[in-house]
Amino acid sequence: MTAETPPLAGVIGWPVAHSLSPKLHGHWLKRYNLRGYYVPLGIRPQDFESSIRSLPKLGFRGVNLTIPYKETILSMADAVSDRASLIGAANTITFREDGSISADNTDGYGFLENLRQNAPGWDVRNGPALVLGAGGASRAVVSSLLNAGVPEIRLANRTRQRSEILRDQFGAKISVIDWNRASDAAEDTNLIVNTTSLGMSGKPDLQFSLANAPEGALVTDVVYTPLETQILADARARGNPTVDGLGMLLFQGIPGFESWFGYRPEVDETVRQIVLSG
Ligand code: ATR
Repeated sequence: MTAETPPLAGVIGWPVAHSLSPKLHGHWLKRYNLRGYYVPLGIRPQDFESSIRSLPKLGFRGVNLTIPYKETILSMADAVSDRASLIGAANTITFREDGSISADNTDGYGFLENLRQNAPGWDVRNGPALVLGAGGASRAVVSSLLNAGVPEIRLANRTRQRSEILRDQFGAKISVIDWNRASDAAEDTNLIVNTTSLGMSGKPDLQFSLANAPEGALVTDVVYTPLETQILADARARGNPTVDGLGMLLFQGIPGFESWFGYRPEVDETVRQIVLSG
């Protein structure tokens, strides 16, 4: 790296074209008038390790990782944050001066920050959370909820065994619920969150009844295409507070941006509109 090279960062995936991160970080760089570039890097699996190793020499301060590299990177990293190692995946890496790799997972941070900013007055500690799904997104959500002091998590997943694995790893506050009884488990909840891919454009809708949910329960989704999934529309129609999933993506970008470009960016309506614009 030379002093003349502007700070570089990017997102690595295969494929990577779908990633909204270049728009997000590109907007922040412009908005705060910072030197630097953020680029999408489509890298084939066989080239992943050598590409990562060469990035610091090219002037990269770090990268975001998306499918299929979020797990692979852990075995290459020199330091892994507690939350990344708990989740078993990293989405943000920073290169140190000597080129060594520090890996972090900011998805749970993004999830909680989205709720904190968009559901003022709501408090994770006020009651049980019902989490639908037990895949990668669920691991980030569950670990962030536990970290923030949720009293209880009810976890329902089509494949029950995956919920049991999460419960065994994350502990006694988690109870496993049958997938076909998930709607019953909405009773007394303070939060209901869909972490499955159901409801995403091109996928079937999540079949979930909110009939048992208290009217104060916050309902949220990690899916953000479309912004208003069926469960959010149903929640809104019956008067429950809702937060859509786009904010999770936007807020998860903050720690990486700050570590690479030295400025803590903000998420507001302009950022949402820019990222959503075609
Ligand atoms: P991600 O990293 O996005 O969470 P994932 O690890 O593949 O992706 O997990 C996808 C989640 O959506 C899982 O909880 C999955 O349930 P299974 O563990 O039973 O596969 C859930 N999911 C996907 N399609 C589903 C469907 N048709 N019905 C119910 N759950 C579904």
